[in-house]
Amino acid sequence: MPDARPRRTFAVISHPDAGKSTLTEALALHARVITEAGAVHGKGDRRATVSDWMAMEKARGISITSAALQFVYRDHVINLVDTPGHSDFSEDTYRVLSAVDSAVMLVDAGKGLEPQTLKLFKVCALRGIPVMTVINKWDRPGLSALELMDLIQEKIGLRPTPLTWPVGEAGDFRGVLDRRTGEFVKYTRTAGGATRAPERRMSSDEVEEDDVPLWEAAVEEHELLTLDEADHDQARFLAGETTPVMFASALQNFGVAQLLDLLLDIAPDPSPTEGVDGSVRDVDDDFSAFVFKVQSGMNNQHRDRLAYARVVSGTFERGMVVTHAGTGKPFATKFAQSVFGRDTTVVETAEPGDIVGFVNAQALRVGDTVYVGDAIEYPPVPSFAPEHFVTASAGDIGRYKQFRRGIEQLDQEGVVQVLRSDLRGDQNPVLAAVGPMQFEVVEDRMTNEFNSPIRFSRLDYQVARRTDADGANALKGMRGVEVLERSDGTHMALFVDQWRAMVTARDNPEIMLEELPAGGA
Ligand code: G4P
Repeated sequence: MPDARPRRTFAVISHPDAGKSTLTEALALHARVITEAGAVHGKGDRRATVSDWMAMEKARGISITSAALQFVYRDHVINLVDTPGHSDFSEDTYRVLSAVDSAVMLVDAGKGLEPQTLKLFKVCALRGIPVMTVINKWDRPGLSALELMDLIQEKIGLRPTPLTWPVGEAGDFRGVLDRRTGEFVKYTRTAGGATRAPERRMSSDEVEEDDVPLWEAAVEEHELLTLDEADHDQARFLAGETTPVMFASALQNFGVAQLLDLLLDIAPDPSPTEGVDGSVRDVDDDFSAFVFKVQSGMNNQHRDRLAYARVVSGTFERGMVVTHAGTGKPFATKFAQSVFGRDTTVVETAEPGDIVGFVNAQALRVGDTVYVGDAIEYPPVPSFAPEHFVTASAGDIGRYKQFRRGIEQLDQEGVVQVLRSDLRGDQNPVLAAVGPMQFEVVEDRMTNEFNSPIRFSRLDYQVARRTDADGANALKGMRGVEVLERSDGTHMALFVDQWRAMVTARDNPEIMLEELPAGGA
């Protein structure tokens, strides 16, 4: 039976250490997926090689895929899509954001807006994803609430519209003023946040004496915010002009239920999606989905490959034969059963907003569309401007075959962008990355998974622009630029520096030199 409950599909964007794992556990706790938050794992456990979440799943036995955590809250199904928690940037993180309808920006109250949060926010802005903000760790001393509001406005240009306002400064967290009802939501600390933190709602005149001075200060600031028109406006939020703000302590489970309620109340539903030819697929139309992440090597016993797709329209039913838009070929999904991390979990049906993992989907690549019924192809998942370039070669000439196979596989998974030219030949592809850590992943996987040690040699390029076949011809032989081709057929012009790219564009206005969205470190 299809599950017709409404969906909320979102991701948490944050800088490492802001509390994303803690919040994820707390959300799951509130949604009654698990009954006790229990002992917090050491970092080492959580940062498992493949995904933080898989380790969490093993330890807890909760239903987490390496791509999404799904749970029920009130009458909704919530899909929390994982963003890899690397300290460095990889394109993977960005691609995940193409699969969500909204994002929660998690900010450490003591640190304010940190670099990775800002970069991820930019990707949300580029994709028009509405962003809700949670100020975390309010149980610890930090910046003032008003300072944080100023930072949000200044650094990301969104107007903060607090939905709750803290009672007590950071480090003395008594609760929050619910700005929509005017009530005091008082928190009770529990040891280590091990159970659902009791919240007591009370009206202004029920506030206990001990809390009165702080309550009155909060009321005063709330009134100032109202005068300043910092109130939630649904249309402006959906248009990406404002960000609703809440205050929380994920570790103490404070504010977590409010976040869930907020998701249900204001975060957008999955919506109709436009294909490359301009046709629109409504959520109730025939099944369609696009692949946003491909992962392999999760099980060393057999070389498996999972393609994670976001359902855009219709109901997915296991066993369905879908069409792969890129090749027009049918793709049977009957082996798509162990879509979730645990082998025993079978997804029988999935609805728009849900994440499905296709097992052994050798043909599927990041950005691919699959559908039934009328043909549809969704726009490619955006790629970001690479800023780091190396040439790669097999570390062991005798293992060249393995080298080629490995590079091809990592290219298909989108671990790095692989660029080729006749001049360089297949022995020496150029690898292009948004963040240098992508090369480390390549090195590790080539050595351990494909048994082919790899050698890199740094290239002196800093800027990549997209061009076309005519541009590629015209640029040939020019100084300070080299044109290579990406496996999706895109011509990429690499320049030694920004200045050379600018001068070339200025002196040759007839050449297409398109900038790619910036993302890198
Ligand atoms: P991340 O996934 O975003 O990287 O962050 P994570 O949840 O691992 O949290 C980073 C650290 O911040 C952890 O402490 C965690 O306990 C702490 N933390 C998270 N939320 C809160 C909060 O609301 N209040 C306070 N006071 N601390 C919070 P750690 O000591 O680095 O690790 P651990 O040993 O506790 O796992």
